[in-house]
Amino acid sequence: MKTNYLFTIAVLMISFQTVVAQNYDESKVGYYQLPQILQTKNGEKVSTTEAWEKIRRPEILKLFEDNVYGQVPKDFDDIKFKVTNQDKKAMNGKATLKEVAITVTRNQKTLTINLLMFTPNKVKKPVPMFLVINHRGVKTMDVTRMNKDGFWPAEQVIEAGYGIAGFDVIDVAPDNKTDFIKGVLQLYPEQLDMDNGMAALGAWGWGASRVIDYFEKDKLVDAKKIISVGHSRGGKASLWFGAQDQRVAIAVSNESGNSGAALSRRNFGETVKIITQNIPYWFCENYKQYADNEDKLPVDQHMLLALMAPRAVYVGSAAEDLWADPKGQYIALFEAQPVFELYGVETKLPLEMPSINKQIIRPHMGFHNREGKHNMTPYDWQQFLNFANEYFNQ
Ligand code: GCU
Repeated sequence: MKTNYLFTIAVLMISFQTVVAQNYDESKVGYYQLPQILQTKNGEKVSTTEAWEKIRRPEILKLFEDNVYGQVPKDFDDIKFKVTNQDKKAMNGKATLKEVAITVTRNQKTLTINLLMFTPNKVKKPVPMFLVINHRGVKTMDVTRMNKDGFWPAEQVIEAGYGIAGFDVIDVAPDNKTDFIKGVLQLYPEQLDMDNGMAALGAWGWGASRVIDYFEKDKLVDAKKIISVGHSRGGKASLWFGAQDQRVAIAVSNESGNSGAALSRRNFGETVKIITQNIPYWFCENYKQYADNEDKLPVDQHMLLALMAPRAVYVGSAAEDLWADPKGQYIALFEAQPVFELYGVETKLPLEMPSINKQIIRPHMGFHNREGKHNMTPYDWQQFLNFANEYFNQ
């Protein structure tokens, strides 16, 4: 009897914790104030692209580096590309398949990223390329195409005249608490001792940058038209990668949610506390101090989206994926607009989030909130393609 009683108390305590830990009620979101995007640390107003590029942009980049994702080291001693497999008649002759081993050396330590890519044979010039930071494994990117996965719908992308590429994040930083250090962090071990040292999300973006290093050498690819894509944790990495590496033309975040496209100060769905408790190795050490303390963050996620300006940013959401807070993602995009406006880009997003399945395409910005659950599907890909067609005037 006594045990039963204690058990009930324990269950009640756990459910109470869950209830207070996260909120799905719009009326309980509460008031929040976002950091000023166009005001320098010294309190000066930023009103030119010059001031943005010289002062405010580097400031914001550094704030994300120091407080959220950690650094992304740029130095290494050597990089080598080796095409390990090529098939010019893949997909019944419609595409060329290449598998490329990208090997990076620093201080006598090496790391190899295994890149997979298809390019459409019908296009006779270098093609724009979708690059997926893939945390769902190579099984979703079957080179034989016997196994087709909607997460990486190569046929659909090839048909539309684009290339599609991807690498498994496991090559760069395995996606778990203990093993994430057994990848590129072995090349940069000093990062592990720093409170703003590189963690898994930054490492994945570092890997994606090495892939662009390769694309710049491959005549099949138009390296000025790289579209970075990631879903969920991959979407967080895609945005941070796009902010870091200005060779990215469009950064796509699909349902990246907390610490991705969704505002951290908006108390809805996942929070900084939950994410830093459950998955601390995605972020630098310093991020933990903002658990239940978001108002002290010197940045919020609208500033991450703004770091893409004047390039393009696309945010995909799913209506049932409340954990990732679709509305918080839309507001972040909306709040990123002033930086695009500095460049004369008339984004003019509507104040209200567009209704379900209604895509919105503006110059340099796009958004959709599809029906259904957390996933990246051929429907989402169609929206990315619509946006890329419009942006590149394909
Ligand atoms: C967890 C995590 C999210 C993340 C998601 C994913 O749900 O809490 O932040 O986006 O995994 O990557 O699928």
